[in-house]
Amino acid sequence: LKSGAKRPIGIFDSGIGGLTVVKAIRRMLPNENLIYFGDTARVPYGTKSASTVTRFSIENTAFLLKQGVKMAVIACNTSSSLSIDTLRGRFGLPIVGMIEPGARGALSATRNGRIGVIATPSTIKSGAYVKYLKCLDKNIKVFSASCPLFVPLVEEGWLDGKIVSDIAKRYLGPLRSKKIDTLILGCTHYPMLKGVIRAVMGRSVVLVDSGEEAAVTIKRILESSGSINNERSKTEPKFYVSDDPEKFSEVGRRFLGGRLKHVKRIRDGVYA
Ligand code: DGL
Repeated sequence: LKSGAKRPIGIFDSGIGGLTVVKAIRRMLPNENLIYFGDTARVPYGTKSASTVTRFSIENTAFLLKQGVKMAVIACNTSSSLSIDTLRGRFGLPIVGMIEPGARGALSATRNGRIGVIATPSTIKSGAYVKYLKCLDKNIKVFSASCPLFVPLVEEGWLDGKIVSDIAKRYLGPLRSKKIDTLILGCTHYPMLKGVIRAVMGRSVVLVDSGEEAAVTIKRILESSGSINNERSKTEPKFYVSDDPEKFSEVGRRFLGGRLKHVKRIRDGVYA
């Protein structure tokens, strides 16, 4: 195992969507070594119960820990919503999720105190974004909508066009009438649909990308704990998946805008 600052940051997600978070972290922290685990055998998490998502999340974090990571990032908003407290209670390393950074980003962006949240059904049902926003500022008004079809659309590579725009209008229509000035993209996949979402919501609504906000938080934590990697390194992220890597590599290319060099399937039963 590498020591100190050179140890990698571990990131997990239910599958491929967390690559939007990888992209944001690489932009913000180009010297960091990254290890990513995508639970492609058990995706999606966004429609599953809290107990199931938490069980998977514990296993995923344990896998990252075995790789000697210095920090765990829960790229999946659903896991962040349902499981972060359990993970923090169980594992003795810094754990960054998407909800707190996303909520903070939205609070600093809003001018009228009316914030929208879009995410998977399980994230919305958990109320995690609403709770955290209200705990930071109890006067804030929050309006939520789940957009379950966005995930498969993005994975199919359908990022624009009439069908996508019609679906976006149907999901976002109710939020438009709420006069929000800020919208949290509370799911790994949604940043890929920024163009369509912006077209539907109008340019005056600020879109908050939880992954980008999380990258800022990660940088701050690494700096304050002296564990940021200042040595220039050009290592490529290492990707692990729990099912066949082909589809992950193919779709992942679109997410990251470049080839994924190291993608490996973990042995079956690695969690046991
Ligand atoms: N990664 C999930 C999230 O951010 C979306 C995909 C899924 O449902 O697993 O909530």
